[in-house]
Amino acid sequence: MIQGSSMLHLDVRPLRAGFGAEVLDVDLSEPVSDALFTSLYAAFLRHQLLVFRKQTFNDEQHLAFARRWGTLQRHVLNQYLQEGTPELLIITNLDKNGKPKGEHPDPGAAIWHTDGSWSSQRALSTMLYAMAIPKAGGDTLFANMYAAYDGLSAEMKDKIENLVAVHNLDYSRSLTSAKQQMTDEQKRAAPPVEHAVVRTHPDTGRKCIYLGQHASHIVGMPIAEGRALVETLNKHASQPAYTMAYRWSLGDAVIWDNRCLMHSATEFDWRNDVRTLRRTTTVGETVGGIASDS
Ligand code: SIN
Repeated sequence: MIQGSSMLHLDVRPLRAGFGAEVLDVDLSEPVSDALFTSLYAAFLRHQLLVFRKQTFNDEQHLAFARRWGTLQRHVLNQYLQEGTPELLIITNLDKNGKPKGEHPDPGAAIWHTDGSWSSQRALSTMLYAMAIPKAGGDTLFANMYAAYDGLSAEMKDKIENLVAVHNLDYSRSLTSAKQQMTDEQKRAAPPVEHAVVRTHPDTGRKCIYLGQHASHIVGMPIAEGRALVETLNKHASQPAYTMAYRWSLGDAVIWDNRCLMHSATEFDWRNDVRTLRRTTTVGETVGGIASDS
């Protein structure tokens, strides 16, 4: 890192997928100066996802770093929240005694989605920190929704330009193998919301598809027709041309832009192996005041 007036020069290595980049020489256990944050945010806008390898940082340091990206989300599925620190979500297949509990850690992660699209306070960033990783599988797949939008035919772009989708966490949860479906209280706290299908990124001005499997249907279209359109677009966006698989290593921290990426987790042997990720999510349209360099 080289100190400049208001930005730092970061050593950023793009990943092979065409989006995502590794940031070298940043220690996430240290406080982040304004100049460093400005540089990180510019890299975040340019690459959509940043990887920091070989990190060691505790809950408070994780929260301090995440807070730089906005207001922390308290997830409505409170069964995943860390006791005493509800801004931290723990995705693990271990029980309180540290043994595999015989259940998938987070069935909702196994479908393509963008975090928090089921809320009017939708997610800006999500950060995952790898505390235990399985020998095989348990990758996180990411889809570049800018590229997916750019790859649509002109007819499809026209068709979806002014469409609005209904996003509903209860609906997407029902698509998964989750034994614990939403309680009435959780459903009341997360009623269906509407978002434009084509989202203009508030910082970059680029258009992307904003869907995923929280989207249950399209406003003003028969349910089945809208659902089929959502499925077509999700399928289009999750094809290999627009996606990458992130293979975790212990100590990796990855932060991504939910405004323009979808993600899903791949299977692993959750009956016998271990996967534990610590997650924070921030909400909001933009952190504000930081221009894109992309
Ligand atoms: C998530 O959906 O936020 C978690 C993704 C993962 O477990 O890889």
